[in-house]
Amino acid sequence: MKKITINYIKRLKSEEQPFATLTAYDYTSAKIVDATDVPIILVGDSAAMVVLGYETTIPVTMDEMIMLTSAVCRGTQRALVIADLPFMSYQASITDALHSAGRFMKEAGVSGVKLEGGIRMIPQIRALVDNGIPVMGHIGLTPQSFHQFSGYTVQGKSVKSIENLIADAHAVTEAGAFSLVLEGIPAEVGKLITDQISIPTIGIGAGPYCDGQIQVFHDILGLYGDFIPKHTKQFGKISEHITEAIQAYIQQVENRSFPAEENSTHLSTSVLKNLSSKQT
Ligand code: KIV
Repeated sequence: MKKITINYIKRLKSEEQPFATLTAYDYTSAKIVDATDVPIILVGDSAAMVVLGYETTIPVTMDEMIMLTSAVCRGTQRALVIADLPFMSYQASITDALHSAGRFMKEAGVSGVKLEGGIRMIPQIRALVDNGIPVMGHIGLTPQSFHQFSGYTVQGKSVKSIENLIADAHAVTEAGAFSLVLEGIPAEVGKLITDQISIPTIGIGAGPYCDGQIQVFHDILGLYGDFIPKHTKQFGKISEHITEAIQAYIQQVENRSFPAEENSTHLSTSVLKNLSSKQT
């Protein structure tokens, strides 16, 4: 099976071929996603919330992300696996960024990393790319800045902030990133940026004009809570199927129809005889 490359992802933009990407956080879900046409699997730090139950993405550690990412890599043969650098694993210095990204490459086996931030992250992006590590940028509503933004608030609504986002997008492109996530910005701003930069934009809550889209596995499958954020859509309600299956299991245990004959093994007649003679 041919592994998707960053050149393939870049080609999708030049061929004007929209593409759908998805997160995954474990071996089983990675195998399911990898068997589809999704070209990129992102092990997002959204794992902090949808897998580990934290309130934001901020607490997740490198060790937690490495464990999840390794499992995803073991379940993936075709898609490009990108790992999200968690909060404070890259912001403080180029050395931190190289060390953290290096761990993802060597210990988990990813093909690249994603980090949040525009112009202020250019030294880190440049250093990673110069050292052979593909980088996916991420600007707009960057969840690691949750507190700075006073919540998950849409960015790029004023002319000044739109100009800043456009400058960020150009800087990330020039620093050598192979793609750029645009999160939580008006559709018009998503289009402006997509039209202006040469690398593929991947939107989440950034309108329909981005080159690709990304969604959280648990969101599109209806696995994560009752709240459906505006940027997502439940393409299935898997949690209902899971509940139904668990109820059926409970019922069959309670009425002793499970385990059935086909789920059981038996002793040979001779052992059985021997055993019963010893028991009496
Ligand atoms: O953490 C994540 O899952 C993400 C994507 C949704 C872009 O950053």
